[in-house]
Amino acid sequence: MMSMRDNLRKAAPIAIALLFTAAPVVAAIDLHDYDNDLMRDLDKTIKYFEPDLTAQNADAAKEDAQVLLDGFKYTEGYFTRKGAQDAVEISRKGLKVISDVLSNVDSNNFEAAAAAAREAPELCKSCHDLYKPRLAR
Ligand code: HEC
Repeated sequence: MMSMRDNLRKAAPIAIALLFTAAPVVAAIDLHDYDNDLMRDLDKTIKYFEPDLTAQNADAAKEDAQVLLDGFKYTEGYFTRKGAQDAVEISRKGLKVISDVLSNVDSNNFEAAAAAAREAPELCKSCHDLYKPRLAR
């Protein structure tokens, strides 16, 4: 008959294997070629975006939107190359949100534009929750 000790000895490697399986997704992607300068530009731009819309400053808001579009296009391409489909989806939502903002600006509907703009930071955050290394925060 197997003793308790034998059972434990058998269970230990399995427990250790499970521990590694549960490691965060973050470790799975090599980010050495990621464009952090662009991310810092996005960070600056997103702070002005909603205030520019609320102030009905169409020119400034369009400039902001262009930077953000470039950013989401970059992340869409980058994470496509890395095979990270969830990050690609988030990037496409970002492109959609910014396009919605632009069409609302074009029809002079700044209130709807500002409402759409408020969704953008959530998208930045949801990608960071998945792929931004914790220690870099
Ligand atoms: C689809 C994924 C994704 C999206 C969307 C995204 N980011 Fe990031 N971001 C990352 C990853 C991954 C890193 C970490 C890169 C690294 O560690 O080299 C990062 C890093 C950053 C950093 C840190 C840069 C530094 O100096 O190290 C800032 C700031 C930032 N993002 C801002 C933003 C803002 C603002 C948005 C939205 C407008 C955004 N990001 C959208 C994935 C994303």
